[in-house]
Amino acid sequence: MRKITVIVSLLGILLIASSFVQSKNLPQTMVRGKALYTTYCMSCHMEDGKGMENVYPPLAKSDFLKKPAKDLIENILKGQSGEVKVNGVVYNAIMPAQDYLKDEEIADILNYFTNAWGNKNLKLFTPAQVKKLR
Ligand code: HEC
Repeated sequence: MRKITVIVSLLGILLIASSFVQSKNLPQTMVRGKALYTTYCMSCHMEDGKGMENVYPPLAKSDFLKKPAKDLIENILKGQSGEVKVNGVVYNAIMPAQDYLKDEEIADILNYFTNAWGNKNLKLFTPAQVKKLR
């Protein structure tokens, strides 16, 4: 019984520690991600992440961001075309694949825009996740 208590509390400490490390990493990945976003995404999705209605969908408060992490990573790696509905508005244009970006760069960009402009995502994207889907 005592052993179990010790194991459970150790696990608890580990869990708290790992979430602390994650949130500690957030400021760095956000800074790198913002610079990359400015270079590679801002021309279409705009500085405030609001895009342009009917042409470029918003990333700020986008319901698209509720999709699984895998879908978001693939959206950036492989680009996207065809009709999509984002926050009730239809878009039908072409987003070019961004696969020239490194795994770390894509993770940083994702961590930036899923935490910018009122978006919130504490489960950080990792380069390993991107690599697996490339
Ligand atoms: C040339 C313009 C262009 C660039 C550059 C671009 N996008 Fe897009 N993006 C689009 C378009 C257009 C769509 C919608 C495509 C469709 O109609 O299927 C889209 C869709 C998306 C979506 C899904 C819909 C949403 O709004 O939530 C995400 C996420 C996204 N882009 C992120 C990015 C990121 C991150 C970058 C930079 C690495 C980027 N885009 C660069 C034009 C662009």
